[in-house]
Amino acid sequence: MRLDKLLAQGAGLSRSDAKKAVREGRVRVDGQPESDAGRKIGEGRTVSLDGQAVGRPDGLHLMMNKPAGVLTAARDARARTVMDLLPEGARRAGCMPAGRLDKDTEGLLLLTTDGEMAHRLLSPKRGIAKEYRARVTGTLGKCDVAAFMGGVRLKDFTAKPAALTILESGGQTSLARVVLHEGKNRQVRRMFSALGHEVTALERLRFGPLTLDAGLPKGGWRELTAEELAALREAVSLG
Ligand code: URA
Repeated sequence: MRLDKLLAQGAGLSRSDAKKAVREGRVRVDGQPESDAGRKIGEGRTVSLDGQAVGRPDGLHLMMNKPAGVLTAARDARARTVMDLLPEGARRAGCMPAGRLDKDTEGLLLLTTDGEMAHRLLSPKRGIAKEYRARVTGTLGKCDVAAFMGGVRLKDFTAKPAALTILESGGQTSLARVVLHEGKNRQVRRMFSALGHEVTALERLRFGPLTLDAGLPKGGWRELTAEELAALREAVSLG
């Protein structure tokens, strides 16, 4: 977004007052004075006017390709977290993960400043679909597909019906796609484990209408497009 537009929307100025404020040297980007009102302000940058932070009117919403070995947490004294992969500006803007992936799970993670949208996306009532690709030990077969569809019984709850599609099967390991409409702790791992298969690799590919961008490297992130954000908001009746 252009700097003058961001100032206009974020600080309630007219476009010409925004340009004037930039000319007068009252605007900083990432702490540095900025004299170009037309400068494109990328995701994660911080903008201030007269020393006061100016928020993005629509907040900040990022898609990350979470790597394995990183915690989904705001901070941790010892381990690296997904927040450590973001620039300082995104952290300061209050961007937070919407839900969790286990330390060893990879793939699509949404981070957003919109707490209400995150809350709705995670609400069990809405049953937003989440799609995973799992590599598991052993040979998957029709009985596993039926067990997922029938609701796998776990110690503390019975999972809702879930779709299991076998992509490769046979020999030592199998590859499958799983679509869940709930998100309990370690759910995919526990469901396979209950059927005698251990998950050796797990990646989330989809969260509601949001699909992992295949061009994002592990540990990479990007801002959602306007279309992606609109689809997410619509999925939780905020559109
Ligand atoms: N299910 C799991 O077991 N782990 C995740 O990170 C997500 C879903």
